[in-house]
Amino acid sequence: MAAGNDFEIFLVTAPGFEALLCAEARERGFKAPKAVMGGVTLAGGWPEIWRANLEMRGAARVLARIAEFRALHLAQLDKRARKVPWAAFLRPDVPFRVEASSRKSRIYHQGAAAQRIETAIKEELGAPVAAEAEVCVKARIDDDLCTISIDTSGDSLHKRGHKEAVAKAPMRENLAALFLRQCGFDGKEPVLDPMCGSGTFVIEAAEIAAGLKPGRSRHFAFEQLANFDAVAWRSLRDAAPPAKAPAFRFHGSDHDAGAIRMARDNAARAGVTEWTEFRQQTIDALAVPAGPPGLVVVNPPYGARIGDRKRLSYLYRALGQSLSRFAGWRVGVITNDADLAAATGLPFAPPAAPISHGGISVRLFLTVGLP
Ligand SMILES: C[S@@+](CC[C@H](N)C(=O)[O-])C[C@H]1O[C@@H](n2cnc3c(N)ncnc32)[C@H](O)[C@@H]1O
Repeated sequence: MAAGNDFEIFLVTAPGFEALLCAEARERGFKAPKAVMGGVTLAGGWPEIWRANLEMRGAARVLARIAEFRALHLAQLDKRARKVPWAAFLRPDVPFRVEASSRKSRIYHQGAAAQRIETAIKEELGAPVAAEAEVCVKARIDDDLCTISIDTSGDSLHKRGHKEAVAKAPMRENLAALFLRQCGFDGKEPVLDPMCGSGTFVIEAAEIAAGLKPGRSRHFAFEQLANFDAVAWRSLRDAAPPAKAPAFRFHGSDHDAGAIRMARDNAARAGVTEWTEFRQQTIDALAVPAGPPGLVVVNPPYGARIGDRKRLSYLYRALGQSLSRFAGWRVGVITNDADLAAATGLPFAPPAAPISHGGISVRLFLTVGLP
């Protein structure tokens, strides 16, 4: 599968978001991206892997698939794992760990499979095993076929490296980016989130409008791999054009003063303070910003987090009433409950497919421009 420089690259995302992630990959110029269960596959080498980590907003991680073989029992797994050219990918001085999963296969003991591969790598390459290692080799055994990948991202890509502070129930940045895309946001309109928490949607939208690359400030696991070329990577990362000032402002509000403080701090670390405005206010006090209409995107409190359906229903109704003043704006509400969405009284189109967010199945309810 891998000739050292050419891989099948797998971009991981939340099931339900594959087609949107595929559209993003195509837009960013990756060759022949294909949506498959749980992500997107593409072909390429290290430069594409680095660029996917740097530029893809919707991916949770980037895997390089380096080997594939059949393994019917543990001794065969051990023997075939030893034949993988590990030195082409891993460094003997960098700790690594192995995660294994198995489905519909004769090898069913995932821990034993991981341990066999770890031992094979340790003995063939001499690299140390460490439970906390950033470099992670993933083995997926499916129908007795073992696919070996290296996780080139390390920390999940939703960690852009700017958010130290999170409010309650934060939206993951990569999911926020895909929800914005699902709302039809392309960086060319203002965005407002009236329950913004730590500011995820507002900051993502401002970064998209400013043309900032999501991975510009963080570190990646691929920097610890055997053939990492620091000079080539730096020139790719630093080739990004400087931020262009967006023509619009990105607005966030929340009734929680602490959340607003965090949102401002997060925006400052992301370098988007100039284009974002955060204020502490309840949804009843919401005013329509001056200027052209754009997109309201919001994930109000839902489900188990509050538990009080009557109160939630009242909150969604109040949200709908405030937003009825937003003539010409589109509204996207992300929630787990169609009845709560309906309580807003907003004219939503049929909802999109559900996405799992922190174990809760949520989906986007979207209007066209309000009358
Ligand atoms: C699910 S969280 C939103 C998380 C946010 N998208 C993020 O990424 O951090 C819902 C937010 O609604 C806010 N909220 C609840 N009731 C509100 C109200 N009446 N007016 C304004 N904000 C409210 C909460 O403080 C909370 O931050």
